[in-house]
Amino acid sequence: MEAILEKLANPGFDLDQVRSDFAYLELPGPIIYLDNAATTQRPNQVIERMDHFYRFENGNPLRGTHRLGTTATEAMLESRKKVARFIGSKSEKEIIFTRNASESLNLIAYAWGLNNLQAGDQILITRMEHHSNFVNWQFVAQKTGAKLAFIELTDDYQLDMQDYRDKISERTKIVAFSAASNVLGTIPDAAAIICIAKEYNALTVVDAAQLVPHTKVNVRELDCDFLVFSGHKMLGPLGIGVLYGKAEILLEMTPFLYGGEMIEYVEDYESTFAQLPYKFEAGTQDVGGMVGLAAAIEYLEAIGLDKIAAYETALTDYCVAKLEELPYIEIYHPQQGAKGPAIAFNVKNAHPHDVATILDYHGVAIRAGHHCTQPLHRYLGQNSTNRASFAFYNTKEEIDLFIEALEDVKKIMQIDI
Ligand SMILES: Cc1ncc(COP(=O)(O)O)c(C=O)c1O
Repeated sequence: MEAILEKLANPGFDLDQVRSDFAYLELPGPIIYLDNAATTQRPNQVIERMDHFYRFENGNPLRGTHRLGTTATEAMLESRKKVARFIGSKSEKEIIFTRNASESLNLIAYAWGLNNLQAGDQILITRMEHHSNFVNWQFVAQKTGAKLAFIELTDDYQLDMQDYRDKISERTKIVAFSAASNVLGTIPDAAAIICIAKEYNALTVVDAAQLVPHTKVNVRELDCDFLVFSGHKMLGPLGIGVLYGKAEILLEMTPFLYGGEMIEYVEDYESTFAQLPYKFEAGTQDVGGMVGLAAAIEYLEAIGLDKIAAYETALTDYCVAKLEELPYIEIYHPQQGAKGPAIAFNVKNAHPHDVATILDYHGVAIRAGHHCTQPLHRYLGQNSTNRASFAFYNTKEEIDLFIEALEDVKKIMQIDI
């Protein structure tokens, strides 16, 4: 605990300065935002960058040859470069902009899955997947006849690597997994998962929606085939997401969406398609979102993802320790291994929505529900849970207030444990 408190007192960056960048903290009344896994808040720098784009650089990218068309195109190119560098991709051609992680995962399912899978093949996902990396594969399995299989969890809410080894086979064509669970916080050993998949020539899809905001990710070191994330979970705007794919795989894939700017030549009855990445970006793109995402990356990098990760780990460990002191709380979070800043829990004998509503009276924002993971919740034996999730602008004092507010939940709900 001493080391945790020390880290919380000395995060290694200027926490007061950081908090002054987030306008939501100026709202009247206490506002303790612990719902960062759903979406983060945005610092002023991101909002100002987008404002500047719409005021002074706005045109239709890739189309307008005039000054404002060119500034929009340049903003798009610069943002793509920044994203490529941020995740260690060797070329910006491997960065496809989408609306969010869900769309990126659908793109892979439609443009790779439907064309490359058939009866007898296996799609291997995990028990803790978000519906975005679950339902898309159900759809592909139903359409192609491929079989969907699940890597189960250990009693400590870790991915069961033995179960993975038992289930993967020559029939496995794709292994799609969450690099950080949005519910349990579990961070599986992505490098090991990918390494095993390679032994069987299976492609790997990394859902990094909950990892990229908190930890430095390098796609070349991971050597994954695809990796996806959402801008809005990492200080960027709503409505911009990323699909990273290895160029040689993307080149072989058919487009996902058809229309403007994704073509090379259009004849009467057939067309050829644009180079990467444009083949996968039909229609006018969200450059305002792209510059916002690039500004978010700059913001995270200026603080340092290593410092962010260390501080958020301390916040999470502190909160788990405090929750563990409360006998009426049940926690769904691993004891061992790497963990992200999300903690699922329930107040015994209280409905998660009642808990979240009472906490909201105290200004504490947490999530209640199944968090888009119904199969995981069935495994947990719960219809729904509460979830507190942190970002580097949260503080120890906010966690203390959250814990105090839980005591009020106990009182109001007359929980006698
Ligand atoms: C692990 C994980 N994957 C995918 C998604 C989907 O992200 P989005 O809603 O931005 O598409 C989420 C969102 O919560 C998530 O937590």
